[in-house]
Amino acid sequence: MTQDELKVMVGQAALAHVAPGSVVGVGTGSTVNCFIDALAGIRDRIAGAVSSSEASSQRLRAHGIAVLDSNAIERIPVYIDGADEIDPNGHMIKGGGAALTREKIVADLADRFICIADVSKRVAVLGRFPLPVEVIPMAAAQIARHFAAIGGRAVLRAGVVTDNGCHLLDVHGLSIVDPRAMEQEINQWPGVVTVGIFARHKASLCLFGTPDGVEEMRYSARPDAT
Ligand code: A5P
Repeated sequence: MTQDELKVMVGQAALAHVAPGSVVGVGTGSTVNCFIDALAGIRDRIAGAVSSSEASSQRLRAHGIAVLDSNAIERIPVYIDGADEIDPNGHMIKGGGAALTREKIVADLADRFICIADVSKRVAVLGRFPLPVEVIPMAAAQIARHFAAIGGRAVLRAGVVTDNGCHLLDVHGLSIVDPRAMEQEINQWPGVVTVGIFARHKASLCLFGTPDGVEEMRYSARPDAT
């Protein structure tokens, strides 16, 4: 099977986790696009979606799915999104599609994060995929220096302005053995909007697309889950 076929397969498999009548949290990226296309088939059975990017909102609306204001929603049962890497504990690197901040916001509204990914995203240790970090533009150089001090090489993603009007750094050369600690540390640096480590907001379940079908991996609940 091709990688695209694996994405279609997990996008469809995720439908089983959408409760009838519920509001669904929807991520961003090529795998989620497959989920959105599958969701169109049950659009009359859901209350709408909270979206993590302008791109996903456009696709949802094109399918006739209502996109709801996140400020009008208190909780959602499930958030479905892809990942750039996922480790054996369900910690992820996200943000390859530049939507990490809104992704973390919608994940924070959700009782469960269900990750959908082809099996190539599974890694032992996070960090081979350059870590995306959304930053306030005037802080970019100083944040790059902070990364250099911990062995990372931060590269400005040329020409990219996020949905929030900020810039993105992609940080190469990190080996993220303690994702929770590193997420917490980077969050303290002035000018960091969002770091693409999803440890506090990790997946509770991942649906991996493999040539043999969908493989489910469940992860222990995050200790500080709300
Ligand atoms: C978007 O900002 C990302 O977090 C995506 O979830 C991630 O890049 C995975 O995207 P693909 O499904 O396109 O690989």
